Amino acid sequence: MASDGFVSVRASLPALPLPPNNKRPEITTNRLLLRPLQPNDLDALHVLRTQPDVMKWTTAGCIDESIEKTKSKLDPYLPPNDIETANFAICLKDTGELIGIGGCHLYPGSHGWPEIGYILRQETWGQGFGTEFLSAWLRFWSELPRLERQVRVEKEMVIGEGNVDEHLIALTEASNSASQKVLLKSGFQRFREFTQVEDTKTVDLVAFRFLPSKK
Ligand SMILES: CC(C)(COP(=O)(O)OP(=O)(O)OC[C@H]1O[C@@H](n2cnc3c(N)ncnc32)[C@H](O)[C@@H]1OP(=O)(O)O)[C@@H](O)C(=O)NCCC(=O)NCCS
Repeated sequence: MASDGFVSVRASLPALPLPPNNKRPEITTNRLLLRPLQPNDLDALHVLRTQPDVMKWTTAGCIDESIEKTKSKLDPYLPPNDIETANFAICLKDTGELIGIGGCHLYPGSHGWPEIGYILRQETWGQGFGTEFLSAWLRFWSELPRLERQVRVEKEMVIGEGNVDEHLIALTEASNSASQKVLLKSGFQRFREFTQVEDTKTVDLVAFRFLPSKK
């Protein structure tokens, strides 16, 4: 065991590189179309990322101050970076309108596992879109080709040692009940509460995990 709070484990994980945007399927659900992000999603993404009640729940904690800032948040999901992330545009199936963005935005996250996140435009909340998105996206993630490999993960973020089940992690603020409900309804387990101190800011977080091999 390492003294830095991390351990080496072996797990089957989605093989890297991930499928690029142009090889990714479009996913449809009852009401949604999940598709790869495109450069011309910038304006719609800026509208989403300038909604204060959406952005207060993100790591940034505040709205994008400029379109350039939003572009820097879109670029990680466009070629050539698309093979390291799996973030989709969440659109209304009927109109094609982009109402959100979600998926694996960090692979690996600071804990060593892939991490998911999602944000939806405020006027769409409370209609089940979050759960409809996440359930469909998890099927996509679970069906990706796997490769067994050694990974270093935070000791507090893994069940077991040696050969372990692959984890997919979601971190929510302790007071973000809506997001926590979406995770539980989609098959995640709540497993850890901790406080993160960043500069002068202290945030209470709850960690959730999804085990694709146990779904
Ligand atoms: C989190 C988010 C994606 C949820 O989207 P959504 O489409 O409203 O989700 P759903 O409708 O599928 O489910 C939300 C659930 O939370 C419940 N809920 C909503 N606000 C709540 C609150 N303040 N307290 C308790 N429950 C709440 C809803 O009633 C629903 O539960 P139900 O199905 O049992 O009725 C959306 O609120 C959002 O974009 N929030 C801002 C960004 C964010 O928090 N992202 C996640 C960061 S971890």
